[in-house]
Amino acid sequence: MPVYLDHNATTPLHPEALEAMQPHLTKPFGNPASVHRFGRAAHGAVQRARVEVAELVGCRQDEVIFTSGGTESDNLAVKGAAAAQPGRTVLYGATEHPAVLEAAEALRETGTPVEVIPHSADGHPDWPWLEQRLGQGDVGLVCLMAANNETGVILDTARAAELAHAHDALLHVDVVQAAGKIALDFAGSGADMMALSAHKLFGPRGVGALILRAGTTIHAQMHGGGHEGGMRSGTLNAPGIVGFGAACRVAARDIAERNVHCRALRDRLEAGLQQLSDVTIFAAGQERLSNTCQFALHGYDGEAMVMAFDREGFAVSSGSACQSEHGEPSHVLLGMGLPRDIAKAAVRVSVGPDNSDADIDALLSALARIRETPMAAMA
Ligand SMILES: Cc1ncc(COP(=O)(O)O)c(C=O)c1O
Repeated sequence: MPVYLDHNATTPLHPEALEAMQPHLTKPFGNPASVHRFGRAAHGAVQRARVEVAELVGCRQDEVIFTSGGTESDNLAVKGAAAAQPGRTVLYGATEHPAVLEAAEALRETGTPVEVIPHSADGHPDWPWLEQRLGQGDVGLVCLMAANNETGVILDTARAAELAHAHDALLHVDVVQAAGKIALDFAGSGADMMALSAHKLFGPRGVGALILRAGTTIHAQMHGGGHEGGMRSGTLNAPGIVGFGAACRVAARDIAERNVHCRALRDRLEAGLQQLSDVTIFAAGQERLSNTCQFALHGYDGEAMVMAFDREGFAVSSGSACQSEHGEPSHVLLGMGLPRDIAKAAVRVSVGPDNSDADIDALLSALARIRETPMAAMA
């Protein structure tokens, strides 16, 4: 059986999420916006899911805007906030996911001033740079993620909120990888917006949410029937939303247990990697997601390693799934100032609750075999 160790790319649907969704794929099939009984049944299910999502992230239920996933939520936050503050600068971290980075870069093309917040080699933003830049008074939006999808580094977004608000700017936090892995408290976090995605926390693909603090003004990016308080038009994906809600409920219940399990596996892997002289574990000394390890085997090509692991029966990745498609070195590692050859050697292992000690031991044995094969070495 192939072993799946790529949970930061996507996760399997949790059985409780599937069970919750199943009736909504057939009956009640009504449109949640319809007033008849079919519609009311679907609406009720969506509202229950809204409460489950709100409980996981610590926000009010009327602050949840359902979307098609993390990418749409990030786009709505970045473009929507920029549109509400024309001419003000957007800042985003050098290690942000493309969903934030490319949304901001698209704004640059239409004349919005956009700048990148430099990061240090340990994965954290350059705080003095950020404070000094905010001090210029023209920044409308700061985007910093809660946890990085490649390295797993957990950022101090409370500090970012304090700085942003002291200078009249909004803070958008991408919590796509953090949700279900670290405790979130939107109400107390100071963030103005948070982006979530169901399929990273054992919910279905193609559904997510933007949490928007009550009273914060952004402009809708999807126009139509005025769903979700006018912030995101489009018939709600009721089965997906119900599955998302169930996945959030399970995550809130199981978060501590999952973390203990995943951390033990991740530490076992890193103990094995540390035996090797030619391995670098990125951001090793930093507070990171319990399930994530990104490392480089010096002189090897990350993509070739991923293929070699695949032949051995292990699904890992070289960085984010999107970047792998383009064969580019990780912008996250380049953004941390790491040399190109090290960034190109990156391999990410992200474990999940179904993985075992035996999976990690087998992966380390496969790595030992791969190291003996010249095929994975860089040309
Ligand atoms: C940090 C982060 N943000 C956003 C996304 C995009 O989410 P989705 O796949 O739901 O569009 C991802 C997915 O890889 C992610 O890791």
